[in-house]
Amino acid sequence: MLVVGNWKMYKTPSETVEFCSALAERLDGIEDVDIAICPPYTSLADAVRTLAGTEIAVAAQNVHWAEEGAYTGEVSAAMLRELGVYGAIVGHSERRQYFGESDETVARRAVAARAAGLEVIACVGESQEERESGQTELVLKLQVEAVKDALPDGDVVLAYEPVWAIGTGKTATSELAQEAHAFIKSLYDVPVLYGGSVKPENAAELMGMPGIDGALVGGASLEVESFAAIVEAAYGL
Ligand code: PGA
Repeated sequence: MLVVGNWKMYKTPSETVEFCSALAERLDGIEDVDIAICPPYTSLADAVRTLAGTEIAVAAQNVHWAEEGAYTGEVSAAMLRELGVYGAIVGHSERRQYFGESDETVARRAVAARAAGLEVIACVGESQEERESGQTELVLKLQVEAVKDALPDGDVVLAYEPVWAIGTGKTATSELAQEAHAFIKSLYDVPVLYGGSVKPENAAELMGMPGIDGALVGGASLEVESFAAIVEAAYGL
């Protein structure tokens, strides 16, 4: 099981240090669950430093495809590696929705990240309209195949995040999530995390479903207690 906290644009460096110290203490001794947090770029160095010597890894929320260059505002995989960051999310739906991310740019980011030795968590998921108009499988197929074509050796983790369940409190039912995970795995048999309003109350049921290999947690990863409770729910699954 892999539990990843996506902080989005929350927590300053000092808040990060405070959170990471408390989380490391809270989860001291936990085994059998892979844990990562994804702070904003400005907090990555502090997170890596504060979590050194623990089992909790630090990943970025995005990464650029070029090794370096005239790309104002972007950060390369080598820059992240030098900080001690172990991986990166690519293709989060908020990047797709607000920052023009496409299947093509997601694929390019994923390839560059792997080439530099970063683990990749690539997000896929349908919107409310796409689900309602019966296009879920088509959308997932296009998104998953873009990642598969870019990284055909299976060296990637996917995250299924139905857009209508992100930050809305509307979790996909475990059956619906399981169905989507099974479909995704039929296209590309790699670990698939579920994301979208994962909370301590629903984490064990979701992660207990066949084909769900962990969770990508947004809002509930911002508090030590709720994130730790989700990690504990993954324990032993
Ligand atoms: P949420 O976000 O848990 O707040 O719904 C999940 C995500 O966007 O990764």
